[in-house]
Amino acid sequence: MSTPEKITELLKNYVSHSKEIIAAAIIDPEGLVIGSKMDESMDEDVVGAVSASFGMASERIKREFSVTGHYGAQIETEQGLFLFTQCGKNVLVTLASEDAESSDILPYSYIVAEKAAQILDLEKRDISVELPELEKLEPTRFTFKLIMIGDGAVGKTSLVRQFVEHKFDSDYISTIGVNIMTKSYNLFENVEIKFSIFDVAGQKYFRKVRKNYYRGTQAILFVFDVSRKETFENITDWVKDVESELGDLKKQKIKCLLIGNKIDLPDRQVKMMEAKKLGDSLGFNFMLTSAKDGTNVNKAFGRIATKLAVDNLLV
Ligand code: GTP
Repeated sequence: MSTPEKITELLKNYVSHSKEIIAAAIIDPEGLVIGSKMDESMDEDVVGAVSASFGMASERIKREFSVTGHYGAQIETEQGLFLFTQCGKNVLVTLASEDAESSDILPYSYIVAEKAAQILDLEKRDISVELPELEKLEPTRFTFKLIMIGDGAVGKTSLVRQFVEHKFDSDYISTIGVNIMTKSYNLFENVEIKFSIFDVAGQKYFRKVRKNYYRGTQAILFVFDVSRKETFENITDWVKDVESELGDLKKQKIKCLLIGNKIDLPDRQVKMMEAKKLGDSLGFNFMLTSAKDGTNVNKAFGRIATKLAVDNLLV
């Protein structure tokens, strides 16, 4: 199957999977539709209205994607409920009936988005376009190792703390060596994820100790501080540092996310587009977070968890 055929087939399985889903499309940051599928039982006049509202959805993506760099939203319209799910460099748009519960659809939208991203961005041909029956899955538990990487004081410990304990501390206590924290949570109803998070010290003098913790990791969050440009410029050195120990991250199938933290601060020194460009060149998704007010913190870890689950369970 060619890539476009795979995408169409995946969307078809998605739309037919739930009777509440009316249509789905994958739209790029320029607002162009890469693939779409509608419920085939729809009346012709409804098809027209749905197409028109997808047109509006793509305008919205075009307008807002370049500002935020990532996209996730739920909007209720006359046509029904729109769900926007980040899908690698693109956005998966789902239109569901008015009375649909977004919590029923969201897990599948994440899976479809992740599969589509792997098919499109990584040109992975072996990804299956079938969707799992999550309700019928045996309870499954995964343990994943994740490491936090980046310069000192960019907010690595604070991000982990916000994710694990929903707390934030404005005092800065530099990490000595490594902090290890665990967090278990349900990604989908019967899929439990247990993260062992290694928050390694960013200060230069911990270099030797730090490397000991790289081995065996399945995911890495590369963090910089949007209010300190040099922390952004150092990201490529951090990638090299990790790769010198673990080898090519893509080949090792290690899931990586680039994070610009401290977006609550007014003095931003790193432009959204340059960060996104770096993310693209490294093959990483990019997100902006604030460990202080919690913006996107759960989403960032959730994104990684979905990627790992899709790889391990749902191929
Ligand atoms: P090392 O342990 O030295 O590698 O630092 P780190 O990257 O773990 O940074 P840490 O989480 O200790 O945060 C450093 C300082 O930045 C602390 O004073 C935090 O309170 C502050 N900080 C972290 N995240 C944010 C944020 O999102 N917004 C704001 N305003 N401050 C933050």
